[in-house]
Amino acid sequence: MNRLACLLPVPSQRLADLYRTAFVTGASAGLGRAFTEMLLAEGVRVWGTARDTGRLAEMASTHPAQFTPVVLDLADTTAAVGAFQRAQQSAGGAFDLVINNAGYGVFGRFETTEFAVWEAQVRAMLGASMQLAHVALAAMRQANRGCLVNVASLAVEFPLPFMSGYNVAKAGLAAFSESLVIETKGSGITVIDLRPGDFRTDFNQSMQTASASSAPREPMLDRSWTALDANLRAAPPPAAAAAGLRRALLRRRSGTVRLGSFFQARLAPLGAAWLPAGLRRALACRYFGI
Ligand SMILES: NC(=O)c1ccc[n+]([C@@H]2O[C@H](COP(=O)([O-])OP(=O)(O)OC[C@H]3O[C@@H](n4cnc5c(N)ncnc54)[C@H](OP(=O)(O)O)[C@@H]3O)[C@@H](O)[C@H]2O)c1
Repeated sequence: MNRLACLLPVPSQRLADLYRTAFVTGASAGLGRAFTEMLLAEGVRVWGTARDTGRLAEMASTHPAQFTPVVLDLADTTAAVGAFQRAQQSAGGAFDLVINNAGYGVFGRFETTEFAVWEAQVRAMLGASMQLAHVALAAMRQANRGCLVNVASLAVEFPLPFMSGYNVAKAGLAAFSESLVIETKGSGITVIDLRPGDFRTDFNQSMQTASASSAPREPMLDRSWTALDANLRAAPPPAAAAAGLRRALLRRRSGTVRLGSFFQARLAPLGAAWLPAGLRRALACRYFGI
């Protein structure tokens, strides 16, 4: 074992000592599933969502006393809030931890894609997530404890090409988290603006391709897609993101938490903060083959 690693304190505390109950949106796949499995392994009771709870059957059968499947579609805000409220009641009135994780991509040129597609994406990923947070935080205030995690992205600093709705939703979510970090100061509530870099999930396979199949192919879009997909395939596994989230939750501090490779979680944010905008854009375009 690395000598320095021996000197580091081992985080012996279990998350269940700090968070007895958690609500995770998008628990059926990728990051949300890894977060849920990590929380279950830590002894936390989890209410996890999917649009089709068949996708949660395995977790429900392996953790019958600890895991509750919830049907939730961000596209139907009223039903999503209702599902959240019922889960919150059955968890005792307030969750100790709420992770706004569910989300999806749409890939296409902004002006040639139906505006309704972008509108629906921003309403689901930003509007519905804010509405869940509204209900969750009101209950956390009453309890004077709790933690809200909003899963944004490195796309806040480096927008992904041809994913304008996604970039808007994630930038909005990060601004929302920052507002709440300030508003909850001095309370027993913490708010984490989680910004993952690339992790190897099915995100790209689930991505909606906005252009009609009859539309002429554009080399620039093809190159961008190839770069996006290559990055995701070479990225760390979701379990690495869950380990990072676990460390952040144990710290119990509000703020921005970046997850991912050294390049994406450390160097890229530094570049975003210090490089002139023109150079930053030029590097991003080169990275994505534009
Ligand atoms: N993977 C990455 O590299 C990466 C990087 C930065 C940020 N993120 C963010 O991390 C989150 C999870 O992404 P992922 O990579 O794990 O993707 P994923 O493997 O495709 O999983 C997406 C999850 O979100 C749920 N979901 C999708 N659309 C939904 C909707 N309309 N309503 C409710 N649930 C919905 C899916 O549930 P069902 O389909 O079962 O309903 C699934 O559980 C997203 O917010 C994504 O933007 C991912």
